[in-house]
Amino acid sequence: MSRAIAVGLGARAYEVVVGAGLIAEAGARLAPHLRRQRLAVVSDETVWALHGARLSASLQAAGVAVLPIVIAPGEQAKSFAGLAELIDRLLELELDRGDVIAAFGGGVVGDLAGFAAAIYKRGIDFVQIPTTLLAQVDSSVGGKTAIDVAAGKNLVGAFHQPRLVLADLDVLASLPDREMRAGYAEVIKYGLLGDFGFFEWLEAHGDEVLAREPQALSRAVGRCVQMKAEIVAEDETEQGRRALLNLGHTFGHALEAETGFGAVLLHGEAVAAGQAMAFRFSAAQGLCRAQDAVRAERAIAAAGLPTTLGDVAGHPFAADRLVAHMAQDKKAQGGRLTFILARGIGEAFVARDVDAGQVRGFLLAEGATP
Ligand code: GLY
Repeated sequence: MSRAIAVGLGARAYEVVVGAGLIAEAGARLAPHLRRQRLAVVSDETVWALHGARLSASLQAAGVAVLPIVIAPGEQAKSFAGLAELIDRLLELELDRGDVIAAFGGGVVGDLAGFAAAIYKRGIDFVQIPTTLLAQVDSSVGGKTAIDVAAGKNLVGAFHQPRLVLADLDVLASLPDREMRAGYAEVIKYGLLGDFGFFEWLEAHGDEVLAREPQALSRAVGRCVQMKAEIVAEDETEQGRRALLNLGHTFGHALEAETGFGAVLLHGEAVAAGQAMAFRFSAAQGLCRAQDAVRAERAIAAAGLPTTLGDVAGHPFAADRLVAHMAQDKKAQGGRLTFILARGIGEAFVARDVDAGQVRGFLLAEGATP
């Protein structure tokens, strides 16, 4: 069973299909989007070893020739060097502007392949087949594509919407528990930022989502995608409301930067701690009730995710260094910091003029060193 959620972007509108068994249906679902019956599939070694044969069989059964481009797993692929290598492979395959690229993997593959599609021969179409919870509920939807540079993550990129997203819930069965929890941080984000009812449902059923119980998983991924689709349709290029999707990300990015953007602290884990901190900062500023921050923190911790600086390997962190990373954030403007703060659970808002001194004081109170 599957459901299709529309991302209403006029001429660039597309569907995100969420359900079980979609890889087996990929050939039939993708063929109508192809002018030539061939597809360049960008994947990483881990995903390709687990699921590549099934995807290839499905595409071939629909008469679609598969051109696989399998890269090494890991964030380092999202670099100028990784991008150049991928573009060279696309050129070797003689892809033209009528061809389509499929991003088959997690956020790294989606961001890299999407950005390559955005710039290859001035832009060709791409589709997303996300294989992690994080990619299914967040990064595969909405057209943000990017690579990392020395100054920070995702600082070079483009908005380039996919033509179709196929989120096959079955592939999550092979996802390591740690990655599942990291993706869950982005699931809970949707409740915290704008849907108190969904947050309450997650308090009761989050363990079923993490256990990959099919109905709970389908409901959770479906609700997240629906919320993301609505927000992206309203604010594609993040001039306003889309920034709410960055709840927990300003604190989280700083922690990721300090821990080296790697296995020490996964993106979702950083976002988990960042969300708890954003709620505590909101409470400290008198914006929301202390009990809301406690409740948000409890729900995050219940999923086995970090909520404090002390929970993160690498602690103690220096407040000045964390604030310096925040000033590099894409959302920072004119030296003022931007945070997503909350008036309550499900009531996040964009605070564009946050004083760095107040953030520094909060970090010291959270256990950071000067
Ligand atoms: N991941 C945040 C966004 O897509 O806007």
